[in-house]
Amino acid sequence: MRLLICLLFAAIFLFRYCATLKEGTTCIVDINCDSGLHCETCPANGNIRPRCTRIQPVDPLSKTRGLPFNRYSWLTTHNAFARFGEKSSTGSVILAPQNQQDSITDQLNNGVRGLMLDMYDFLGDIWLCHSYGGNCYNYTAFQPAINVLKEIQVFLEANPTEIVTIIIEDYVTSPNGLTKVFNSSGLMKFWFPVSAMPKNGEDWPIVDEMIRDNRRLLVFTSKASKESSEGIAYEWRYIVENQYGDGGMKPGSCPSRAESPAMNETSRSLVLMNYFPSAPDLVTACRDNSSPLLAMANTCYEASGRRWPNFIAVDFYKRSDGGGAPLAVDTSNGQLVCGCSSISFCGEDTPFGVCEKREAAGGGVKPASSAAPYRRMRHVSSTALILLLSTAIISW
Ligand SMILES: *[C@@H]1O[C@H](CO)[C@@H](O)[C@H](O)[C@H]1NC(C)=O
Ligand SMILES: *[C@@H]1O[C@H](CO)[C@@H](O)[C@H](O)[C@H]1NC(C)=O
Ligand SMILES: *[C@@H]1O[C@H](CO)[C@@H](O)[C@H](O)[C@H]1NC(C)=O
Repeated sequence: MRLLICLLFAAIFLFRYCATLKEGTTCIVDINCDSGLHCETCPANGNIRPRCTRIQPVDPLSKTRGLPFNRYSWLTTHNAFARFGEKSSTGSVILAPQNQQDSITDQLNNGVRGLMLDMYDFLGDIWLCHSYGGNCYNYTAFQPAINVLKEIQVFLEANPTEIVTIIIEDYVTSPNGLTKVFNSSGLMKFWFPVSAMPKNGEDWPIVDEMIRDNRRLLVFTSKASKESSEGIAYEWRYIVENQYGDGGMKPGSCPSRAESPAMNETSRSLVLMNYFPSAPDLVTACRDNSSPLLAMANTCYEASGRRWPNFIAVDFYKRSDGGGAPLAVDTSNGQLVCGCSSISFCGEDTPFGVCEKREAAGGGVKPASSAAPYRRMRHVSSTALILLLSTAIISW
């Protein structure tokens, strides 16, 4: 009887032991992979072996919160709300292009901290639509904005040291439309006021202070007039941004988008890098979100007056053929936070330019800061398994 129980335990532990694989290992389904990874192929790159690939950047705040906000880089999802295969809340089929694979809550839990949202007046409310001509239709309408804003509210409430940025492509013309929807979402308590935003290239406040003051939500709009009318920051007064779509994917060039000041305009303290094609493509996204993305980060760094991007915006952020968007964000954070080639090489509150030794095995970057405890747990599990088996044999 005791043997049976032990074998049962062993089976459970053994399964757990086999069930978590490191980055690059062959897998069958997502749950085979370690935390922070999922299982996928990239046929667009001729890579058909399903392998565990990264979907989470390292949280740079786990290294230090002592730097100004503009000294960090954040994974940003282009059209964060335009989820693949989603049905419109109007009941209609959606005919608009789709850019991401999971919910806003899942994105936030995977370390996405910048969300690009297109907002429209629609059906007497504010909706998230991927539309054209400034109007939303049933077949381009995803869902009411309030739903997604409430997801962000729940996340900020549950994670008191995290900071989220919303970048609105703003088609809302109803009076105080955005103010009303943000107000009813419960997000105003986290609002970072426009008055405290640096206007002439100064550093942003220290992240620790932003957390202490609960100013953990940054909202930018594409409509200049809303800064004075509703107190919502006009994006290009604070951020330089490169061309989006195909025009932003030409190797070796990083032109600014029409509405943005020049990339090297240092009176804007934040740099946003777009890297996604004009027509979102689930199949080729894994190729784009790999070495071409890293190459563009270097190109945009040079074009931006040697500034690493604070926001790296992509489609299908989970897709890659290698380290992906999480690796690009880790690289940018490494440079911004400690002057090293990855945030994984920054120590906790160590001086700028002091890089920790590269991890020996594979030279890979740690999947996520949360992965280490899990690895330890697995060692404990295998030790427990051996102990249980020996106990079983002895008592038998
Ligand atoms: C659009 O959806 C709304 C809400 O479901 C519905 O009331 C309306 O009739 C729909 N309009 C069209 C043109 O289908
Ligand atoms: C914001 O919400 C509060 C209640 O939560 C309400 O009293 C106030 O009028 C609202 N303001 C706007 C501008 O909608
Ligand atoms: C900024 O970039 C433009 C090209 O976009 C260039 O002409 C200009 O000289 C640059 N300015 C500085 C200060 O580097």
